[in-house]
Amino acid sequence: MAYDLLRAFGRRIRWGMVGGGIDSLIGEIHRMSARLDNRYELVAGAMSVDPAVARETAELCLVDPERSYEDYRDMAEAEAAREDGVEVVTIATPPHLHAEIATLFMERGIDVICEKPMTRTLEEAVDLKQSVTRSGRIFALTHCYTGYPMVREARALVKKGAIGAVRQVECDFPSGPFLVEEPQRDKRHWRFRPEFMGVDAILGEIGTHAYQMAHFVSGRLPVALSAHMSVLTPGRETFDDAHIVLKYEDGALGRMWLSFVAAGNEHGLAFHIYGTEGSLKWHQERPDQLWLQHAAEPARRLTPGHPDRMTPEGFHACRLREGHPDGYVLAFANLYRDFADIFFARALGRSGATPYAHFPTVEDGVDTMRFYAAAAKSNAQAGAWIEL
Ligand SMILES: NC(=O)c1ccc[n+]([C@@H]2O[C@H](COP(=O)([O-])OP(=O)(O)OC[C@H]3O[C@@H](n4cnc5c(N)ncnc54)[C@H](O)[C@@H]3O)[C@@H](O)[C@H]2O)c1
Repeated sequence: MAYDLLRAFGRRIRWGMVGGGIDSLIGEIHRMSARLDNRYELVAGAMSVDPAVARETAELCLVDPERSYEDYRDMAEAEAAREDGVEVVTIATPPHLHAEIATLFMERGIDVICEKPMTRTLEEAVDLKQSVTRSGRIFALTHCYTGYPMVREARALVKKGAIGAVRQVECDFPSGPFLVEEPQRDKRHWRFRPEFMGVDAILGEIGTHAYQMAHFVSGRLPVALSAHMSVLTPGRETFDDAHIVLKYEDGALGRMWLSFVAAGNEHGLAFHIYGTEGSLKWHQERPDQLWLQHAAEPARRLTPGHPDRMTPEGFHACRLREGHPDGYVLAFANLYRDFADIFFARALGRSGATPYAHFPTVEDGVDTMRFYAAAAKSNAQAGAWIEL
């Protein structure tokens, strides 16, 4: 069943990467995720800003040296000109390059899987959405945490009314293990250098994950926000802590705490969504536990792996039988699998063949960049309410 579309398509997708070299944090996670379901073959890449690292990454991944490029522009030209050129490209560079690279490939008929935050600015995000529409390409944004079975289950339960009408939305991302001391300027990562993503980069790096997660699960987008950000690390030039209040249409409120300096925390992403009848609570570090709490009943710990105990949407994301923990890479791989199946369904003219396939889209990217711009503006105006 899981392989029907792959079998009908008859081969793996010819896949390329821009960024994500062995000098990166996230590149290998993408490669693991793409390998897991046998739907992609890495055939080309411009995988590092450093040509030697790009070459070495390609070598390690058994990519033909002729298809390892020093510049992504050359890659887009050369691959589009080949009969066997890449069909899908993943963009895993720092975010200030995402919009340019995505547009370059989509204009040449190549579908895109793009890392978050989608772009550098809201204006770029709006333009990118137009490029996606104009080109007719498939575009996915790797807000990977939405690939977890119990996150998809939470979303489906909210939709079914399991907690009544959603009222309060809390989604926090207070991380912090290694980032409480700022290194010398020349040794700082781009996340902490304002010339890349501005002084508000925390909003893109972890804020967009939390914002998109809150929307994904609750089904609700706020209409206004008030943000307060601070720099808690001596010598740091970018904000490393943010508290944001969200206002919804009916006057309900939501809240986000984002931090790079929550000392002692590990990852930190978690949500608690409250409805009129109960609430749903989930933490990324215990991803196979979703807590359903109703006022008049003991809390229920929901777990993945059994079709009779889950919604079809949630079960679609499960790979293992109950009692066998999966985790981050399997969640990430769900985005790759669902993207590939939608790619195959389109090629085979089988719309409707992928009822539960899901990945965040360019629209989510525009929403998250609208949040980013509004939170930065609000903070600059001492927490003024800014409409979204
Ligand atoms: N989805 C997630 O959970 C998650 C986790 C971490 C990072 N990210 C996102 O992934 C992206 C990359 O983050 P990272 O932490 O891996 O960054 P990184 O700095 O560790 O790696 C960036 C990679 O891009 C390459 N690169 C830079 N400029 C390039 C260019 N012009 N051409 C080709 N390659 C180039 C670098 O050589 C490196 O391989 C960011 O958008 C980040 O926000 C997402």
